[in-house]
Amino acid sequence: MISKATDFVHILVSRLVKPGDFVVDATCGNGHDTSFLSDVVGPTGRVLAMDVQEIAIERTKALIGEVGSRVIVEKSSHDRLIELLEANRLPPPKVVLFNLGFLPGSDKRVRTSPKTTLPAVSQAISCIHKDGAVFVVVYTGHEGGSEEADALEKHLSSLDPKQYVLSKHQAINQEGLPPYVLVIQRRF
Ligand SMILES: C[S@@+](CC[C@H](N)C(=O)[O-])C[C@H]1O[C@@H](n2cnc3c(N)ncnc32)[C@H](O)[C@@H]1O
Repeated sequence: MISKATDFVHILVSRLVKPGDFVVDATCGNGHDTSFLSDVVGPTGRVLAMDVQEIAIERTKALIGEVGSRVIVEKSSHDRLIELLEANRLPPPKVVLFNLGFLPGSDKRVRTSPKTTLPAVSQAISCIHKDGAVFVVVYTGHEGGSEEADALEKHLSSLDPKQYVLSKHQAINQEGLPPYVLVIQRRF
């Protein structure tokens, strides 16, 4: 059963990503997505994980433990994605995953915002591997969440439908404001 937006993303990522691939976690937070991604790419793959908060970097490093050598963890805003790929001589990522919002169990005022989310998602789209996809888990229940979601959808609506497929996936019978997933793939 797929009860969470992140479960849905992990299923799709598992289908796309092969051992040895390179992928990006653009909001590593507590490290759960990074840990999942490092398992999927395996010992010959690589993961670039980033977050703006030191606590997130520490938690991610603690969670990934001994598989850490296949993961580069950077304290950075995701709107420096292209710069980080170039600095680390990394190839086009098969997946770039954004899990927006704030760090569970931490200061809710430190959260993703349109000022950096929009350029970061654009950079991810511009560098993604030809067989890859950009995934964005979007939350609207917290302060600033719906404004970020609206700004992101407006921004992405300018993508040329002949070049990109943009899809939205959301539970439609749950209470409150369930998160949803945007998937962006390039047509070749
Ligand atoms: C919902 S949490 C991510 C959860 C994480 N993927 C996990 O598996 O535990 C959102 C994260 O985005 C981070 N964040 C906020 N603004 C950011 C930015 N500009 N660049 C990168 N990370 C950012 C927050 O610090 C927070 O840790």
